[in-house]
Amino acid sequence: MRDLVAETQLDVRQLVAPLFVREGIDQAQPVASLPGVMQHTRASLREEVRQLADLGVRAVILFGVPEVKDDLGSGAFDPQGIVQVALRELSADVGDRMVLMADLCVDEYTSHGHCGVLDGPAGHPHTSVDNDATLEIYGRIAVAQADAGAQVVAPSGMMDGQVGAIRAALDSAGHSSTAILAYSAKYASGLYGPFRDAVDCAIVGGGDRKSYQQDWRNAREALVEVHADISQGADMVMVKPALSYLDIIAAVKAAVDVPVAAYHVSGEYAMIKAAAANGWIDHDAVAGEQLTAIRRAGADVILTYLARWYAQAAAGKAR
Ligand code: PBG
Repeated sequence: MRDLVAETQLDVRQLVAPLFVREGIDQAQPVASLPGVMQHTRASLREEVRQLADLGVRAVILFGVPEVKDDLGSGAFDPQGIVQVALRELSADVGDRMVLMADLCVDEYTSHGHCGVLDGPAGHPHTSVDNDATLEIYGRIAVAQADAGAQVVAPSGMMDGQVGAIRAALDSAGHSSTAILAYSAKYASGLYGPFRDAVDCAIVGGGDRKSYQQDWRNAREALVEVHADISQGADMVMVKPALSYLDIIAAVKAAVDVPVAAYHVSGEYAMIKAAAANGWIDHDAVAGEQLTAIRRAGADVILTYLARWYAQAAAGKAR
């Protein structure tokens, strides 16, 4: 009877699995702070995505770890960059049954670790990210990713005007059907720590992203960002992180008509794994509760490192 009247459903078809692919390694490397998550080789990524597809997962989002980083993050738009190469391979393997998404940012690719190009020397107190110069680079990344087979590009850098710039670049390159999942309300959270291990990213000089990501004390500016992104052409909008921001997810869901995504981020995943490893919480109970809570708050789509676990649990094959 409880099932009969349950208001919220969680289904593997609503999950997106974030995956990391690293250039220049010949064996997949575990990420210590994200148990169960790997930095993949191209080959192990293909195998992982095939298995996810067989388990019923319908979408993946790729993050690249380049061998060489530079000031511009040029590996992000190089047609031979690691994500572009991987996208071409995955398109051939599973392009007919999987939505291929690509995170669109430069922080994994820049020597200084910021999400955009800098207007001065890295680490200098007066140096900041050059918003408009970064937009031009984001346009090039979008086109490179779409050329390589991305069906959805997901700008995560929080530059002002990024969705409009990317939409224009995609359209003028003939990619009018490539969708944009905008990381619209992205907070300058402490919960991204394990992700930065996964992509070997550190901000030079110990800076932070507070000049372009949101202040967690504020809710209303999330709606300003979401409305701006939709007016510039976002097909889906995202709130990130998810669990500490359920109020934001609910407010966004009430305010817009486009699909709403939430990113259950690396720190949220790591907390479940660490507490469960200590025997302090029941992994499966808490993981299911948290993902369901994100759906209950209003997320249509959840990006989560738990996608594989959930797909296996749903298939009756949980550990
Ligand atoms: C930026 C990006 C980040 C995450 C997704 N895209 C890192 C950041 O903003 O610092 C974090 C995701 C996670 O913690 O799981 N390319």
